[in-house]
Amino acid sequence: MGHTESTAITNLEPFWMPFSPNREFKREPRMFVRAEGMYLYPPDGRAVIDASSGLFCVAAGHCRPEIAEAVHRQLLTLDFAGAFLRGHPKAFELADRIVGYTPAGLNRVFFVNSGSEAVDTAMKMALMYHRVRGHAERQIFVSRERAYHGVNLGGVALGGMVNNRRAFGTGLPTVYHMRHTALPQNRMVRGQPPEGADLADDLQRICQTYGGENVAAVFVEPTAGSSGCLPPPQGYLDRLRQICDQHGILLVFDEVICGWGRMGANFGAQAFGVTPDLLLMAKALTNAAQPMGAVVARQSVYDTITEAGGERTIEFFHGYTYSAHPASCAAALATLDIFDKERLIDRARDMSPYFSDAIHALSDLSCVCDIRSIGMMAAVELHPRGAPGSLGHEVQKRLYDRGLHLKSTGDSLILAPPFVAERHHIDQIASLLRGVLVEI
Ligand SMILES: Cc1ncc(COP(=O)(O)O)c(C=O)c1O
Repeated sequence: MGHTESTAITNLEPFWMPFSPNREFKREPRMFVRAEGMYLYPPDGRAVIDASSGLFCVAAGHCRPEIAEAVHRQLLTLDFAGAFLRGHPKAFELADRIVGYTPAGLNRVFFVNSGSEAVDTAMKMALMYHRVRGHAERQIFVSRERAYHGVNLGGVALGGMVNNRRAFGTGLPTVYHMRHTALPQNRMVRGQPPEGADLADDLQRICQTYGGENVAAVFVEPTAGSSGCLPPPQGYLDRLRQICDQHGILLVFDEVICGWGRMGANFGAQAFGVTPDLLLMAKALTNAAQPMGAVVARQSVYDTITEAGGERTIEFFHGYTYSAHPASCAAALATLDIFDKERLIDRARDMSPYFSDAIHALSDLSCVCDIRSIGMMAAVELHPRGAPGSLGHEVQKRLYDRGLHLKSTGDSLILAPPFVAERHHIDQIASLLRGVLVEI
């Protein structure tokens, strides 16, 4: 058990909370003050089981001492060295470790601090790649309805969740959206749904309408995560890959959630057998102990950009003060040691049928209208009651009181437990969720 943090808070007002109804929260705060393994602890000391790995990031369980110690050691050895024109060994070591997990050919790693930064970095990389090849006209991006690609302006333009876009719409990059893949005939399907590969032909239509030669890149989450676990229909990603190749468009997989084992393989790319040109990661890379993300590029994309100018040219005018921060690199290396030692990705794959059975068993509840699952991710979608999302919000509040933590979007409850979960943890999650759903 870790030590108890002080919970005496005098003023809740100054902290402007992200993605939260600030006024409601500050009236009835729901805090956590400690975490360990599968559990988060509110100030009253109850254990709340974490069914969503924080926000899909704590794959190795909370408060791993190996990671904390690595970060501590790093901060006492080399706390910071900017990565512009200077290097430190752990950045190179980490990049080399990462490319041991990514698909063959995807082996050049650009470090950032979050998923959102990975998205905007990849957009700029795609523009740069085409520009140095003499195709500056390729300015259009394609993404998908119900997509979440973070909150920076590029990612907002790509995003397909309306509340994230509607207030910020002007002046964004040009993006055309393909239809999402949630089809009514695929309700209650486990894994990749059989219907819907033809939805990838939306990309062909966009190319026919706007000119494939004007499109820079297509962004998709292999399985859409934040909008409620939408696994790709069988054959869908292969078809996107074919159309991208036909038109010389870069295919980008946003694996901020799917990466690092969530889909039952290292990355969604391997789980679904389709290799993108750029692959984005964040979250589980450091087990959330430090902020970090990365864009992993095909070597040919890196070579094209880096070989375009002279030896002394800065090839890509892009980077963050904290790109490859030493403490984040130390956290990621310690996380990957845990992944290797505990075979976490195999463990996730082996646990996923049990997890999926437990969640699909909730389909008898009358408030449930759909359940989707793949790997160690699932969504339970509720019949809306009143305004869309209001039931989900009510459920979300009760879950904390009943001892279950999960991410919800609208009326979809999204589960993505840490990979250290044992069967009894999965049983506990399913039974707590059933209890709350029966209550409402
Ligand atoms: C697919 C995807 N891309 C990007 C992001 C943004 O990541 P961050 O919140 O670290 O900026 C997320 C976050 O959930 C995500 O799920």
